[in-house]
Amino acid sequence: MEKILELISREVEEAFAANGYDRKYGRVTLSNRPDLCEYQCNGAMAAAKEYKCAPFVIADKVAESLSGNEMFASAESVKPGFLNLKLDAEYLAGYLRQMSVDEERLGCEKSQAPKTIMIDYGGPNVAKPLHVGHLRSAIIGESVKRIGRFMGHTMIGDVHLGDWGLQMGLIITELKERKPDLVYFQEDYEGAYPEDAPFTISELEEIYPTASAKSKEDENYKEAAMQATYELQHGRKGYQALLSHILNVSVSDLKRNYENLNVSFELWKGESDAQPFIPDMVQKMKDDGFAHMSEGALVVDVKEETDTKEIPPCMILKSDGASLYNTTDLATIVWRIRDYHPDEIIYVVDKRQELYFTQVFRCARKTGLVGPETELKFLGFGTMNGKDGKPFKTREGGVMRLEYLVNEINEEMYKKISDNHTVEEEEGRKTAKMVALSAIKYGDLSNQAAKDYIFDVERFTSFEGNTGPYILYTIVRIKSILKKYQEQKALPQGAKILAAHSGSEKALMLEISKFNSVMESAFADTAPHKVCAYIYDLANAFNHFYHETKILAEQDEGVQAGYICLLELTKRALEICIEVLGFDAPEKM
Ligand code: ARG
Repeated sequence: MEKILELISREVEEAFAANGYDRKYGRVTLSNRPDLCEYQCNGAMAAAKEYKCAPFVIADKVAESLSGNEMFASAESVKPGFLNLKLDAEYLAGYLRQMSVDEERLGCEKSQAPKTIMIDYGGPNVAKPLHVGHLRSAIIGESVKRIGRFMGHTMIGDVHLGDWGLQMGLIITELKERKPDLVYFQEDYEGAYPEDAPFTISELEEIYPTASAKSKEDENYKEAAMQATYELQHGRKGYQALLSHILNVSVSDLKRNYENLNVSFELWKGESDAQPFIPDMVQKMKDDGFAHMSEGALVVDVKEETDTKEIPPCMILKSDGASLYNTTDLATIVWRIRDYHPDEIIYVVDKRQELYFTQVFRCARKTGLVGPETELKFLGFGTMNGKDGKPFKTREGGVMRLEYLVNEINEEMYKKISDNHTVEEEEGRKTAKMVALSAIKYGDLSNQAAKDYIFDVERFTSFEGNTGPYILYTIVRIKSILKKYQEQKALPQGAKILAAHSGSEKALMLEISKFNSVMESAFADTAPHKVCAYIYDLANAFNHFYHETKILAEQDEGVQAGYICLLELTKRALEICIEVLGFDAPEKM
């Protein structure tokens, strides 16, 4: 379906043309004075310059041409030359009826030119527990992915595990200290390695920080860890067997955590998967004359003339020949392009890594790893702060584990829900989990990604205000009205959305009609917060209508059936939106 603003604009453009003015002046926008009108066109002001006359002369003529047009209830020319527009209620109803027919997409067309888009998000590190810093990447990335998919693109999410580097050597070193007799450490061992890992996830999560702390104090220990890392990366069999245990144990724990967040990935690739591509890549960069030695390291210059700040060279190999985070990211681009030919790769990473990604992207372009047909996009997010404005911590001041945070909020929600009314324990827990997830995700997504925000549990879990629970509460309210209606009667044949009977009904209808344009721009700007803003307005408009309107007590069956159809559509719009944001609504709460 065409966007309603397009339809309106076209009509107004016609009217400009009919009066001999360039149609380009007929662009219509949403009104910034909703008290005066619903849409507005300021084109006459600009046209006045070209046609050298007073703007209101033009606006008057256009308004005159629009009078009697069935799209508008009114088209007024207002001095000095604005056009104030109100939609005809029947026209609006017709637009919504057309949306309703398409239950899946509500008339939002898929992209005409579907792309393959890879999205790099999550970015957890193996053997380290997920902390809140990873939360934003997971939440935002998942939503961007779902929005893209809704718009018809092929979206491939890759978790890009941090599974390479010193942390592996540290774990191996610590294990060796604790259990030196394990076969993994026998260099001459020829047999098969055991299938079961020699540690559990909780041991693993304790081993890593212990090892990391030791290495900071003990030079020899650190040396040993670096040696172990080196041997692992150069194919020592026992260590590689340990690595796959670490990966398996860690990944199944990560999957469980992400599942609780309603987050999933198409690819579970890691930094280690990029390693085989490094030697050829580096060789080519050298052969092509892009990489050169600088202070012992191999680098590619990436500064550009127009830079206003210093962009340091992209380091490809350290002086000891070891690869770096950069090298891995570049080599990851190699297989991503080779295997998926993406039109775009989006990185959802902490914005503090922006400069780093500028270097990586420039290097990838300059050295020809990426052609002009592939766009590289950095979607940097801000920090999640506590109420004190500092990065979110536990009460004791430690790093907050994601799992604990989620459990805490689940618990909080369960208390709220069971305080409100009696619920079966199991049912209540399930509902609490859904509502809690909406609180966390909406609390995050409703902010522009790049901004820091304050994670305020109390505010986020509130059933009032701009929160996830408020949105769910609204959906549940609609579901309950629909259910009550259905218990009383069946929707009559031919029931349909009718022209609005009241201001609040029309306001709700106007909100709904924005659906396709919101989805399109949320995708174009990789901006889930636009979907949040839309459903907040929509929920408000609905609740306003609901408070002013007797729906179930309406006497006129036709009018009532029209309301029910409108409620169905409102519910669908809200549901599709929360689906792309990555959470669901319960049946009741
Ligand atoms: N593992 C990294 C971290 O915890 C994030 C990875 C981001 N993605 C990337 N392609 N570098 O900071």
